[in-house]
Amino acid sequence: MAVCIIYHSETGNTRAVAERLAAVVGGNLVAVRDLASYSKVGMYLRGAPRAMREERAVIEPATIDVSGYDTVVVGTPVWARSPTPAVNAAISALVGIEGKAAVVFCTSGGMPGKTLERISEMLAGRGADVRGAVAFTVRDVRQGAAVDALADLVRGSEKRAIVQ
Ligand SMILES: Cc1cc2nc3c(=O)[nH]c(=O)nc-3n(C[C@H](O)[C@H](O)[C@H](O)COP(=O)(O)O)c2cc1C
Repeated sequence: MAVCIIYHSETGNTRAVAERLAAVVGGNLVAVRDLASYSKVGMYLRGAPRAMREERAVIEPATIDVSGYDTVVVGTPVWARSPTPAVNAAISALVGIEGKAAVVFCTSGGMPGKTLERISEMLAGRGADVRGAVAFTVRDVRQGAAVDALADLVRGSEKRAIVQ
């Protein structure tokens, strides 16, 4: 089973989950970079309002071809209870996503809002078959929380669950 794990991370939490997942299930990691290159303050002053407005960032890579994979995982930090503009853009940048299994996760301070639902809708809108979603808190990440629930979804042992 070929797995592509796509994530955006500014302060390392979402990257940590993505890397733990890759260590458990294998797969290729794709780090999406927001070319706005926010400072810490800029993330709040410019990034969060953009996230709230569901904007798409200019990202690198500009195109993400997933046609060679069976399962696509998308991970986002939560900004203003929303996916980040980089992840909104990454979903638009997917090529070959139609009909693929997809799994979603986010990391947040504990108030993810509708982030998981929003990404799931966007992926479904691109034709993906969304299998489920898992929310991690910053505390989970720092305590080295297991990524078992996420790995199970990727392996297809659970269907359509939202684990918060
Ligand atoms: C601009 C900004 C907005 C945020 N908004 C929220 C929020 O609405 N709810 C929440 O629980 N955490 C919020 N957080 C905390 C992040 O979601 C959390 O630290 C996340 O793990 C960051 O991911 P990263 O380290 O991969 O960049 C926010 C952080 C930033 C920088």
